[in-house]
Amino acid sequence: MSPCLAENRRPPRGEPGYAPTSDAAAKVGKLRRQQAAIARFGRFALHGLDLTKLLTEAVRVCAEGLGAPFSHVCQFRAEQNDLLIVAGHGWRDGVIGHAVSLADPGSPQARALTTGEPSVCDDLQTCHDLPAFYAAHGIVSIVDVIIRGDGEQPYGILEIDDDQQHAVDQDDICFLNDFANLLAEAVSTVSRWAALQVTVDRMKALVGEKDRLLYEKNVADLQLRQAQKMEAVGQLTGGIAHDLNNVLTVITGTIEILAEGVADRPEFAAITRMIDEAASRGADLTQRLLAFARKQPLRPRDVDVNALLIEAAGMLRPILGERIEIELMLAADAAPALIDPGQLTNTIRNLALNARDAMADGGRLTIETGNIVLDEIYAGINSDVTAGAYLMVAVTDSGHGIPAGILDHVFEPFFTTREVGKGSGLGLSMVYGFVKQSGGHIRIYSEEGRGTTVRLFLPQAIGAAGFVEPAEVASPSGIEGGHETILVVEDDHLVRTFVVEQIQSLGYRTLAAADAAQALVIIDGPAEIDLLFTDMIMPGLMNGRQLADQALRRRDSLKILFTSGYSNEVIIHHGQLDAGVLLLAKPYRKSDLARMIRAALAANCKLADILP
Ligand SMILES: Nc1ncnc2c1ncn2[C@@H]1O[C@H](COP(=O)(O)OP(=O)(O)O)[C@@H](O)[C@H]1O
Ligand SMILES: [Mg+2]
Repeated sequence: MSPCLAENRRPPRGEPGYAPTSDAAAKVGKLRRQQAAIARFGRFALHGLDLTKLLTEAVRVCAEGLGAPFSHVCQFRAEQNDLLIVAGHGWRDGVIGHAVSLADPGSPQARALTTGEPSVCDDLQTCHDLPAFYAAHGIVSIVDVIIRGDGEQPYGILEIDDDQQHAVDQDDICFLNDFANLLAEAVSTVSRWAALQVTVDRMKALVGEKDRLLYEKNVADLQLRQAQKMEAVGQLTGGIAHDLNNVLTVITGTIEILAEGVADRPEFAAITRMIDEAASRGADLTQRLLAFARKQPLRPRDVDVNALLIEAAGMLRPILGERIEIELMLAADAAPALIDPGQLTNTIRNLALNARDAMADGGRLTIETGNIVLDEIYAGINSDVTAGAYLMVAVTDSGHGIPAGILDHVFEPFFTTREVGKGSGLGLSMVYGFVKQSGGHIRIYSEEGRGTTVRLFLPQAIGAAGFVEPAEVASPSGIEGGHETILVVEDDHLVRTFVVEQIQSLGYRTLAAADAAQALVIIDGPAEIDLLFTDMIMPGLMNGRQLADQALRRRDSLKILFTSGYSNEVIIHHGQLDAGVLLLAKPYRKSDLARMIRAALAANCKLADILP
């Protein structure tokens, strides 16, 4: 018979491991102690969900219950087919974490695990395949019981070890079995809890991810809606400005004639001046509206923005007053920007004026520059942004800030929180339109009571071609007329009548057409024509640019002068006027008209050279 006993019985008298329990009182005491140990561990298991703590407490209580100096729990690892000591009591360092091999099916641990029956061995010297730590601790007797698992597979074994002959009786075996069953329950509860926790954590992560995506989508939706709203308002504004310009063209253009006529009637002369002034204000307003609608003629060129800001800061000092400090934080390596410098100065002025109004009791205005790359990720969440390298200009004030509720509206034209007559609500909308038309981006950040930062992201000029100034137009003093023949193409009847009269009054001969088709009929006819003076935006199949193209194919020496209520894409490509194109912006004075007609007639650069 194997020296490693596996019987679930008390060794008979005379055999090793026999211990007399004749004393009934001692037996009762032992049973009580064992019951108390089970109860204590049960209570501990009810409240603990940490597996390591649970196992450590189990081996301690179990050893105590049996009066053994050592105990441990091994976990069965099916893949390695071994038992790993996961908790122990009484052992020196280096034992826990040590695998007990199962290769020998005759080992006491393997026996308990495969049969499910307790395995008692009190002559360990005869067990060969046991790890060295048993001998190192002088272990001579061990008892193993199975710890059942949740499913088919057992969790492992619970073992008590003694360096003396340890007599175990039936009660001890019962205790160990009960203890191992309780431990099995506790371990599977903890495992189920841990699995549940993993699921809960995964769920939490999924919910968090869903919330994040939802938030990003909401932000993107909001931005898209905001961009669409601005686009719609921009179109409306552009349309109104265009028509308003036509009306103003008639007023501005005729006012000089009227003024001449009533020069000897002071009361009428005063009214004429009033009309002139009102028309000028109207023209100023339409200019601002066009700026917002991204339809103002821009002349972008390579600009050293730092230098421009230093100059602008000098100009701002007297405007902002002594109580506002101006600080410039300019990046030494700031890239040049491809931007219209006049409009950029105007923008800085607008932002500074807003800052001044927000700092009635004084404060600090900081203007900062830096190169910045807006990456694809940023562009992904900001639908209006194109990824790329920009020159950033940030204008920050320490003023009263903007309430979150109105932050979304500040770029809208006519949005103002100032009293009637104090603000036009066109400052930021102009800035917005200008930056967008220039191929840049704008962001505003504000905290109530702390201040506001407006960040402009301007396109960098590296490698980009700047605006080429058309050859300086000779501008003779006074109004110069001529005798050439000018074909006027204008769809607005009122404007056409007015322009034809103006041009005739300058001595020119005129021909008139209401659209491109009519104009081509005239061009195909026998009449002599020196200059085609055409509106850009016209109803019908062709715009002014296409008409000019067709006209030049028929008469290549023809000179061209465009006019427009706004500079449309047909002349402005990416906010930039084509080199050599002459454009007379509406509304214009008679003197401007006369000057531009002469310039166009004298132009060396034929449009034929620049048309595709
Ligand atoms: N730096 C700023 N600090 C606080 N509020 C600002 C600032 N800039 C703009 N605002 C708010 O945005 C509104 C619109 O500004 P703007 O378009 O320049 O028009 P306006 O200055 O004529 O009111 C202002 O009325 C103000 O409420
Ligand atoms: Mg303003």
